[in-house]
Amino acid sequence: MVEIELKGWQAMRVLHPRPAVIVISRSEEGKVNGCAVSWITPVNVDPPIIALSLAYSRLTYEYVKESGEATINVLPADAYNAVHYVGRVSGREVPDKLVKAGFQLVPSRTVSTPHIDGAAAYIEAVLRDELKYPDHAILTFEALRVVADSRYFKTVFKEENPVLLHAGGDTYVVKYEYVKASQPS
Ligand SMILES: Cc1cc2nc3c(=O)[nH]c(=O)nc-3n(C[C@H](O)[C@H](O)[C@H](O)COP(=O)(O)O)c2cc1C
Repeated sequence: MVEIELKGWQAMRVLHPRPAVIVISRSEEGKVNGCAVSWITPVNVDPPIIALSLAYSRLTYEYVKESGEATINVLPADAYNAVHYVGRVSGREVPDKLVKAGFQLVPSRTVSTPHIDGAAAYIEAVLRDELKYPDHAILTFEALRVVADSRYFKTVFKEENPVLLHAGGDTYVVKYEYVKASQPS
């Protein structure tokens, strides 16, 4: 075996593929922005807590801190080009990047931040806590409402209608095979 020691961004890639979601955020004055996020994880079941890691430079970080809420949108696998665009330009330079990417927003029920029409699933969430590190902060959210589209989700996302995973950089996973684990007898 030849070991490869990894540093920086490359080191974090060993924890991919991961879901590539779009986090929609809203400023105090009502401006809406979207950001691709793959450093996201469930943390607690009751109450439902989700953590995501955001660089301080993201406009999304600023908006989430202002409004205290967000929606987390899980996208169909074939949305990879649109998700990549949203994750490569900042709302600071392209305020209408969600529209340019082809996403339509619809109102949410429990928060004032909209979610993406046609998402495979979306989560309406309020900000709970922040843990600060040098370049990223972990923001934890409480999910107020979690909604899945039954075309994509039954008890898990359906293999025939997969959701998008991010392998790292500009590489995505759009097809995968599910298997059932069995125990040794
Ligand atoms: C697939 C993908 C996943 C990403 N995941 C994260 C992430 O987990 N955290 C983060 O801070 N930035 C992440 N980014 C980078 C942001 O999406 C990107 O910097 C974006 O332009 C920020 O937009 P904003 O400044 O409008 O908030 C990701 C980008 C891509 C393409």
